[in-house]
Amino acid sequence: MLDKKVIGKYKAYLKEHLSKKRYNHSVNVAGAALELARRYGGDTDRAYVAGLLHDCAKELEASKQLELAELSDLDVCDIERTAVPLFHAIAGSELVKTEFGITDKEIIHAIRYHTVACKDMPKLSQIVYLADLISDDRDYKDVKKMRKYAEQSLEKAMYEALKFSISDSVSKGNSIPVCTLEAYNDFAKLMKNT
Ligand SMILES: [Fe+2]
Ligand SMILES: [Fe+2]
Repeated sequence: MLDKKVIGKYKAYLKEHLSKKRYNHSVNVAGAALELARRYGGDTDRAYVAGLLHDCAKELEASKQLELAELSDLDVCDIERTAVPLFHAIAGSELVKTEFGITDKEIIHAIRYHTVACKDMPKLSQIVYLADLISDDRDYKDVKKMRKYAEQSLEKAMYEALKFSISDSVSKGNSIPVCTLEAYNDFAKLMKNT
């Protein structure tokens, strides 16, 4: 059961450290993660907390984000180390430990991989990854399609989301972290076998 006082503390921190827009995004992602956890038998409390806090480090100075990211004992590849937009996920997974004393490995993992995904992705991490893409505030071109997939199947939605993310990176000439390709391969294999 979520402790309202604790959630209030998280929200107060986010309100102070994020823009209004990103604060709203965080609350929406928490709601979307909770819904997905309900639908797919995930842990709803963890989904809400990880969704709420997933972008907690997003508006810190890039140098501070990198400093926090360097503390992570979860693999950080060179591509992530040089791509500023990717720092905040790794930094956030450290910040929740130091700021809030969160030690729950599933929550930490879900925050850490919410931008890049990874091999053998746990259910909670899949839920937060997708919630970030389908939250109410999102309005990119294919968001309706993505929301439909997320209603149909968690794996199918992950597969489509990774295809979308990889194609987008390729079209922009960006490098792709190996863990993203490994995640894609996992879900592509699953889709072939269903
Ligand atoms: Fe993020
Ligand atoms: Fe986000």
